[in-house]
Amino acid sequence: MTTAFMRSLVAGIFIVAAAAGHAAPLFSGHDEQVNALLAQMTLDEKIGQMTQPDLACVTNFADIRTYAFGSMLNGGGDKPAGDNNPANWLRTMNELQSWALRSRLKIPLLYGIDAVHGNNDVAGTVIFPHHLGLGATRNARLVEQAEHITALETAGAGMRWAFAPCVTVPQDIRWGRTYEGYSSDPQLVSALGAAAIRGLQGDALSAKPDSVLACAKHFVGDGGTLDGRDEGNTVCDETALRELHLPPYRAAIRAGVGSIMVSYSSWNGLKMHANKYLLTDVLKGELGFQGFLVSDWAAIDQISPDYKKDVELSINAGLDLVMIPKGPGKPNNYLEFMQDLKELVTEGKVPVSRIDDAVRRILRIKFQLGLFENPYTDPALTAQIGSPEHRAVARECVRESLVLLKNDRHALPLSKHLKHLAVIGAAADDLKIQCGGWTVSWQGDGQLTRGTTILAAIRQTVSPDTRITFSPDGRDLKDADAVIAVIGEPPYAESYGDRTNLDLSAGDAALLATARAAGAPVTTILLSGRPLLLGSALDQSDAFLAAWLPGTEGQGVADVLFGDAKPTGKLPRPWPANDHQFAVNRAFGPPRFPYGFGLTY
Ligand code: GLC
Repeated sequence: MTTAFMRSLVAGIFIVAAAAGHAAPLFSGHDEQVNALLAQMTLDEKIGQMTQPDLACVTNFADIRTYAFGSMLNGGGDKPAGDNNPANWLRTMNELQSWALRSRLKIPLLYGIDAVHGNNDVAGTVIFPHHLGLGATRNARLVEQAEHITALETAGAGMRWAFAPCVTVPQDIRWGRTYEGYSSDPQLVSALGAAAIRGLQGDALSAKPDSVLACAKHFVGDGGTLDGRDEGNTVCDETALRELHLPPYRAAIRAGVGSIMVSYSSWNGLKMHANKYLLTDVLKGELGFQGFLVSDWAAIDQISPDYKKDVELSINAGLDLVMIPKGPGKPNNYLEFMQDLKELVTEGKVPVSRIDDAVRRILRIKFQLGLFENPYTDPALTAQIGSPEHRAVARECVRESLVLLKNDRHALPLSKHLKHLAVIGAAADDLKIQCGGWTVSWQGDGQLTRGTTILAAIRQTVSPDTRITFSPDGRDLKDADAVIAVIGEPPYAESYGDRTNLDLSAGDAALLATARAAGAPVTTILLSGRPLLLGSALDQSDAFLAAWLPGTEGQGVADVLFGDAKPTGKLPRPWPANDHQFAVNRAFGPPRFPYGFGLTY
């Protein structure tokens, strides 16, 4: 039996199963309007709808009208000209839209942004814990609430599309994107990913002002690459791929997700962006995905050395919308993309039917969002950005995300009436570390937004009679009644976070040794995008809290430190005991702490 026949047999079996459980709400309510509009479109206008330049690439906004772009994206860290504040973002987004509405058919633009833990590029928004921390809450209702706030703060800044949730199932913590995954367990990822989609879109994608298009990413197997290498190669058979990495997409489609982003990674050596079997036969066929598929940032360039071939292979594989940043030495990459795709259609190498399918999918979503009637977002939402009510929900997320790994001699909760409380470690007063990557900038500049550091939270929690001393390097511990040591990873995003060594830094290890030598009870708080090898850190601590990357609301940490909220977080992935256990699916021997571990008091 040939492999292709086997595949179709397997796909057939799954199709029967999927059909039985097919619950994906179809975006079919607008087919008449879509077909009527499609019939008026020229090939150039259809290709324009499939083109997504990033903001940094479009130096002349009139190109939006000239080329009838269907979409634009905010590349990691892109900013509008001028100040980084919600009003300026809204003004810029409205200006882009005004250019799209001056095109011949006035098809509204869809602007996408990585609102992955709040609308995090916009200064002043609420920054939620990254997904790994939300995974520790196991609280789907809370995740839905958090993502609804993200939708409000995304629409309030003028955008209706978030490149979220990431529904990766990271298997190896050497991967720099481990923190973007809720868990190493596909069922937990599925439950929280679906909740996030409902939070962003609502029970169904709609014209409501706070319904923001979600984007499940990165399809498929991005978290399974060898050694956790970013954009690497996931080597496994189809059964393993379907058991580990596919369930979150079944759940996302059942939740009505309107867009899915394709992964940079490869499966058994074939780039996902060129994998027609998975993108078309499985995702759109067997799983019944009715929305549209968007590429990752310049991802099609990685398929082969021939860009035009990349365009042909990716569009024929099932890609509908292509992210086109400014290529190296290519001032206007989008002109090359559009020209290549037009030639490929003219040469018969990309069928018009494929173009029409892609454009139909894009237009259906725009009609579903009500963009033709209301192309601009509701300015009343702008005032809600960063509100106390929104911050209160993020604070609850922080509380529930904390995992207590050790609490000897009831070190926690701490008294609010200590005489001298020593706080040590630069990370105690650093929003950049506390928020992690994807905050104001791509690699993380959380200090440029508004929030509460752990130190500030401690100060506003304890009695005014408590003397608090703060020393980044652990001096001035004399006569301390208790020590709080905050350690952590510097921020990173994507491959910048790939590591082979996951020991605590030498500075953090030295800080804990200093703390232990002081003789007072030591509570250690670890801010990190993944479990790290703790070495002697646990022995040097009386209490140890894994706080992940909590975001702007440090008060949630103080709540648990001083007993205003009990720790309830549970490990969303095993905590390795040694460097043979970085890869969950290839670990041997018991972990330091198992999946689901977490103490309370
Ligand atoms: C990045 C990421 C993806 C993000 C996209 C747009 O490279 O892989 O998660 O949505 O580009 O910024």
